[in-house]
Amino acid sequence: MTTAIIGTGGLGSVIARHLASGGETLRLSSADKQSARTLAAKIGRAAVVAVDNRDALQGADAVVLALRFGVLKGVIEEITDLLNDKLVVVPSNPVSLDADGKVVRVLPAGQSSGEVVAEWLPAGARLVMAFGMMSAPLFESSSNRSPELAVLFYATDDDRADEEVGRLIRKAGFEPVKVGGLNQSGRLEVGGDLHDRVVGPAEARTLIGAA
Ligand SMILES: NC(=O)c1ccc[n+]([C@@H]2O[C@H](COP(=O)([O-])OP(=O)(O)OC[C@H]3O[C@@H](n4cnc5c(N)ncnc54)[C@H](OP(=O)(O)O)[C@@H]3O)[C@@H](O)[C@H]2O)c1
Repeated sequence: MTTAIIGTGGLGSVIARHLASGGETLRLSSADKQSARTLAAKIGRAAVVAVDNRDALQGADAVVLALRFGVLKGVIEEITDLLNDKLVVVPSNPVSLDADGKVVRVLPAGQSSGEVVAEWLPAGARLVMAFGMMSAPLFESSSNRSPELAVLFYATDDDRADEEVGRLIRKAGFEPVKVGGLNQSGRLEVGGDLHDRVVGPAEARTLIGAA
């Protein structure tokens, strides 16, 4: 199947390489296309560079928006009419850097990124917050863990999304576990209790229940 990845920076490139290793076909897009071209060249035949963000969606079964929180809304507006009934996977953490280079949260306490991003999407889009719960290096080193796969948590309000996002998470070399609805996505973010946790399925279920 085919997944569009918009944003091929630090995290998008790692997600893309792991999905391609799992057999997914990719359509890549980035701001100036250079990082998308470099990544496509590394991946080989499984990845093509789209002409632009809208073109990335052509023929794609799902789209991963691996974008900084500050540019996410604008890109969603650009592609909004193409998102009806589409699985939209968002790994973005609601953070930015302050003047001193310190990571700061950009949403009020108690408001999760999933709930905010859902407001930006058209009604027919099927949002899953996933793939952003670990730093890119940790994602890389935890993928295809043996003998037991590590868990990648996700949050969604869409009942039909479980199977599709589960398929992508498995292709990337992880075991999917749902943390709950979008109102739980804060647990996956930087500062959340599940962020950067590398656990197997049994411990994952205990952790979910513990909150
Ligand atoms: N990096 C991590 O370890 C990590 C871990 C967990 C979650 N996350 C989350 O993942 C998101 C991405 O982080 P990152 O570290 O990958 O950021 P990044 O390295 O800055 O990459 C951002 C990507 O977005 C692209 N982009 C910017 N504006 C665009 C536009 N208008 N249209 C299309 N593409 C555009 C950039 O294109 P160019 O390449 O052309 O500049 C770049 O490829 C963030 O929200 C972050 O919170 C990151």
